Amino acid sequence: MPGHKGNVLYRNAFLDAVRIDYTELPQTGNLYKDCGPISESEALAAEYFGASKCAFLTGGSTQGIMAALSLVCRENEHIIVDRNCHRSVTNTCGLIGITPYYFYPEMLAGFSICRSVSEKEVLRSVENHPDAKAVVVTSPTYYGAAADLESIAKIVHSANMMLIVDEAHGAHFPAIGMKNAIQCGADLAVCSAHKTMPALTQGAYLLANESFSVSQIRRATSLFGTSSPSYLVMASLDLSRAYLCLGGGEKYRNIILKINEVKLKILKETKFRIPVFEKSDPCRLTVDTAISGLTGFFVAECLRNSYKIDCEMADRDHVIFIITCEDSEGKLELLCEAFLQISKKYENLKSAINTISIPKPVASMSIRKALFSKAESCILMESDGKIAAEPIAPYPPGIPVILPGERIDRLCIEYLLTQGYNKTEEVLVVQS
Ligand SMILES: Cc1ncc(COP(=O)(O)O)c(C=O)c1O
Repeated sequence: MPGHKGNVLYRNAFLDAVRIDYTELPQTGNLYKDCGPISESEALAAEYFGASKCAFLTGGSTQGIMAALSLVCRENEHIIVDRNCHRSVTNTCGLIGITPYYFYPEMLAGFSICRSVSEKEVLRSVENHPDAKAVVVTSPTYYGAAADLESIAKIVHSANMMLIVDEAHGAHFPAIGMKNAIQCGADLAVCSAHKTMPALTQGAYLLANESFSVSQIRRATSLFGTSSPSYLVMASLDLSRAYLCLGGGEKYRNIILKINEVKLKILKETKFRIPVFEKSDPCRLTVDTAISGLTGFFVAECLRNSYKIDCEMADRDHVIFIITCEDSEGKLELLCEAFLQISKKYENLKSAINTISIPKPVASMSIRKALFSKAESCILMESDGKIAAEPIAPYPPGIPVILPGERIDRLCIEYLLTQGYNKTEEVLVVQS
């Protein structure tokens, strides 16, 4: 293996890739054995993040979240989860048989997005649910809000629980001088290298403090990972870390200055808004279009059709860009100019901010039971009263509006329609 034997494919496609797409050999090492070049690269990555241990993941942060939850919680136990969590968290609860206790982070005043998880919310949750084994927090969020993890870690540990941070969007933090979740006191953290570091898709890291042994971590990551991890992805995890340590970090820090300039210009010269959080990822560009009378979907379409710019994600009120060290100042200037022109073109539109509240559906059966139940497709508009058999989550960002086992109601349907679903969209529900 691999079957291509290092030869080029059709018309030189993947020429360079096949030459380093290895399998386990004494020289190339084995991801699931604690020796050789992969372990050496993992140790360097642990150092970059200031963590005690690092495991490479070739199945994205999804694999890391599954592994992390399996390390702290067993079947029939409970965890506390912020409802802003990615669907991989709740899917893992279903797979392992964990029951989550949720809390909803507050909305940012005047906007249709959540703030980051607060210490108050975590404190209330651990007091209400002293039997929980761990607290899972998403920081930074897709929209760029970051939590005060140091204070949260203290609260969680005083309640004798573990803190897991879904830091999928924060792998670049050490490169820009920000602390990683483990340095802030988390026990486990998961970072998607492929989102904000120059790594290949599916590359991610599971980071741990000294509470976990290397063998515990390997057991957990191998349980949820392929037995043929991609050497290309692993090489990119090593290279992107080295790149950021060597000169990429400076590029990252420089681009932040440009992002700040663009934000200021958008604020001053357009009708769009930039949400401000207490703490945030300085590289996330979230533009709120609501006040201009334009939807985020429409602005995204203008950017694509008239300026050949694709955003990372759009919803009713926002367009979001993940800016990395590989974006040039020139590209950001073009993006800024596009925002200025779109705002000018539609300056006479009437607007009214109409913030959305996130629905809070109620569970009728466990996530596990619903996920593994007999299911049927149902048109969204006809799903009122039915029980979801899958996480119903606009993707991106993959944050479930309705979890498996929860009853869909009119408020959920209306909310999904505002978030890009259409009336004839099909959802999977538990067979009645
Ligand atoms: C907050 C969050 N956590 C986890 C994930 C899963 O990451 P991956 O795609 O690397 O599996 C995502 C993906 O978008 C995410 O947004």
